[in-house]
Amino acid sequence: MPEIEFVAVDGTRRRIPGDVGDSVMIAATEGRVPGILARCGGSCRCATCHVYVAAEWVSALPPMSPYEDEMLDAAEAERRATSRLSCQITLTAAMDGIVVHVPERQ
Ligand code: FES
Repeated sequence: MPEIEFVAVDGTRRRIPGDVGDSVMIAATEGRVPGILARCGGSCRCATCHVYVAAEWVSALPPMSPYEDEMLDAAEAERRATSRLSCQITLTAAMDGIVVHVPERQ
């Protein structure tokens, strides 16, 4: 079971387990990670599950879809090169230990 490390704006770190095949967003909401709102329930229509993926993990992720790319432009917090929508990151066993930072607002 891969674990995701969520880093809050104040630097607080929490490791949450997730299931292979579920999204990082599902793990966050089931683990009650503050700051991941996921208002659309994971259908890539709200951008309130925005995260900054730690630079060393970016290459481990599948490329983003054009739709995710478009939605990130609507995110409330600054969009960065490492921005992703956590509902669009499907967990694999190889992602054990992935680190994502929660933005200051959604
Ligand atoms: Fe709405 Fe991810 S939960 S875009």
